[in-house]
Amino acid sequence: MLENNLIVVTGNQFQLNTKNTSYVMHNENGMLTHTYYGKRLPNVNHEYMAKRCRYNGDFQSNISANLPTLDNALLEYPVFGDGGITAPALEVLNSDGTNFAEIKVTGYNIIEGKPKIEGLPASYAEEGDNVKTLEVVTKDEVSGLEVRLYYAVFYDFDVITRFVKITNGGKNAVTLLRALSANLAFDNKGYDVISNYGTWAKERQIERTPLAHGATSVYSNCGSSSHGANPFLILAENTATEDFGEAVGMALAYSGNHRMTADLGRYGVVNMSAGIAADNFRWNLNSGESFSTPEVVMSFSANGLNALSQNFHKIVKNRVCRGAYRDARRPVLLNLWEACSFTFTEETVKSAADICAELGVELLVIDDGWFGQRNTDHCSLGDWYVNEEKIRGGLKPLCDYVNSKGLKLGIWFEPEMICPDSDLFRTKPEWAMKINGRKPTETRWQLMLDLTNPEVCDYIYSSIANILNGANIEYVKWDYNRTMAHIGSAFLKADQMGEYYHRYMLGLYGVLERLVTDFPNVLFEGCASGGGRFDIGMLYYTPQIWTSDDTDAVERAAIQYGTSFVYPMSSQSAHVSVCPNQQTGRSVSMQARHILALTGSFGYELAPEELTDKDKEYIKDFIKFYIENYDVFANGKYFRLSNPHTDEYAAFQYELNGNVIVGAMRLKTHAINLQTTIKLKGLEPDRVYTDVKTGDTYYGAQLMEYGLRINAASYTGDYQTVMWQLK
Ligand code: GLA
Repeated sequence: MLENNLIVVTGNQFQLNTKNTSYVMHNENGMLTHTYYGKRLPNVNHEYMAKRCRYNGDFQSNISANLPTLDNALLEYPVFGDGGITAPALEVLNSDGTNFAEIKVTGYNIIEGKPKIEGLPASYAEEGDNVKTLEVVTKDEVSGLEVRLYYAVFYDFDVITRFVKITNGGKNAVTLLRALSANLAFDNKGYDVISNYGTWAKERQIERTPLAHGATSVYSNCGSSSHGANPFLILAENTATEDFGEAVGMALAYSGNHRMTADLGRYGVVNMSAGIAADNFRWNLNSGESFSTPEVVMSFSANGLNALSQNFHKIVKNRVCRGAYRDARRPVLLNLWEACSFTFTEETVKSAADICAELGVELLVIDDGWFGQRNTDHCSLGDWYVNEEKIRGGLKPLCDYVNSKGLKLGIWFEPEMICPDSDLFRTKPEWAMKINGRKPTETRWQLMLDLTNPEVCDYIYSSIANILNGANIEYVKWDYNRTMAHIGSAFLKADQMGEYYHRYMLGLYGVLERLVTDFPNVLFEGCASGGGRFDIGMLYYTPQIWTSDDTDAVERAAIQYGTSFVYPMSSQSAHVSVCPNQQTGRSVSMQARHILALTGSFGYELAPEELTDKDKEYIKDFIKFYIENYDVFANGKYFRLSNPHTDEYAAFQYELNGNVIVGAMRLKTHAINLQTTIKLKGLEPDRVYTDVKTGDTYYGAQLMEYGLRINAASYTGDYQTVMWQLK
């Protein structure tokens, strides 16, 4: 009954199928309406679902019959000006000053695989993948505006990705005031919105609230996807849990201003949408020109939130991340930032390399401070040449030394920035982002470069390429430590300033694309004062991102929990640092710090020479364990076993082919700790699992229904952390 048909078009019905989900739309006299997104349906006629109460399916007569506007319709891509009160996905400014557009379906195409979105990061299909794309062509007959809606169906991933391409097919110029990537309309079944908020060192804190009337948005207007509002949104049935119930999620493949919205209208219609924030967005489209939106990655789960997240993890890890390190094991790294800040010499790095080699660390990273006159954060961003007072002899001999110890060498850049106190600023002040006649705002003594200017992008490319060509640097940490403010450009014309934010992103993505293409074996890691630009857009270029500047294991429990709603664990860099922790002053055990850093990109952020012999032994053993089980952390299914915001424990589980690793940290300690069990997930009920350390055996059913017991008596004190490995 459920044939493997990814895209089935019959009459006026479009049906998209993934392994476990179906997405249905109807063409109602030219208007594309949404019918269904949920569990897989047979390929039959679903038109009865499309015939909605008080909506007769005809746009004009619906309006003229004075029916309650289009708010009651489920529109696939609502356009401003049709009389509805809810937020539209598209708003245009025509040359006659009017804002209306009426897009009607004129045709469709089915494309094998998936087309690229020019200049933008997006998921991709590989040879042999079961992926097809539906392109629905719509047109405004009066203005000539053409809007093509793309739906790429990733059958085996249970994911549909969407973007929109808008072409001005008329004679007169139009301006786009809003062009979202996707809208998803459905009837409210009693949903909760799962969103996130955050700050520096407290990224992606999950909030779950009942969906209320009006718009609930997660958005950023600071030029980057931000610490404050990561570009994803989930709607879940209010009874849904990690393991049960329906949930639909959207995540935007974009690193700039965005808005993710769930808008509950007066007739109970929910419009869930994602795209570039419309605040201060204007895009001029002359006759014949096109604009493509960023992509939104969308998934539906009928089996709770863990399954929804696992769908996101699978697609992001395998069909968003690229390059050698998509699949290759990421090296265990040690970053020197927390250990030495700006004060180091080549001797510091060499002695760190000596100890790292002994410990089994594989990559040593020199962070900020190796270039220009960078002895504090007050200067030199933009001057990407080695400070030979610090690194005497330059990077090449240092790199050779590090390599001779069997380690790779990595280095830090903050390429998008310029310090007023820099040689670059002294020679090219017009390259800084600032408004003429106004004093620019500095953050951390830095301004941003104007990446809308191709010359600036070329400079960034060649500065980094020079360093990478000059020594065997095998890792780059790409940092970004301020937000955009008071944007101005010596390069763009006044009427292009509404395009600034998006043009900036196109400039950034262009440089990154050149670098990852020309240096395919370099591991690029994203960073933005920690996790301030952690999004699918960046993961297309940098398969791992520094999750947060907060390296406190307890804080990380919540940050990594929130990040795991969309992003695979292999993308989350997590490091063991010293105690008391530099951000919180808290001390937890070595074991707790290691277990909480167990992701597919594990490392250290400390001074190796300060380690005791006991620490060193612990680290050596742990690295061995990590490497042996790397596949489980990088490629296993990740399950959230608890909610660290509300539960007594922060607990998680990885599972790959019967290999199970569980970590749990006690968050609250009482005088009498009750006996507690932690239930595992996703195991085979009839299979016997053996605890590798104790030899104890359990049936999968026992572990899932009763759980592993945390022995309360021997388990007191704050933040005690345990790990089990079962096979
Ligand atoms: C940011 C990063 C840190 C470190 C510093 C260096 O804060 O998040 O990891 O690289 O910059 O200045």
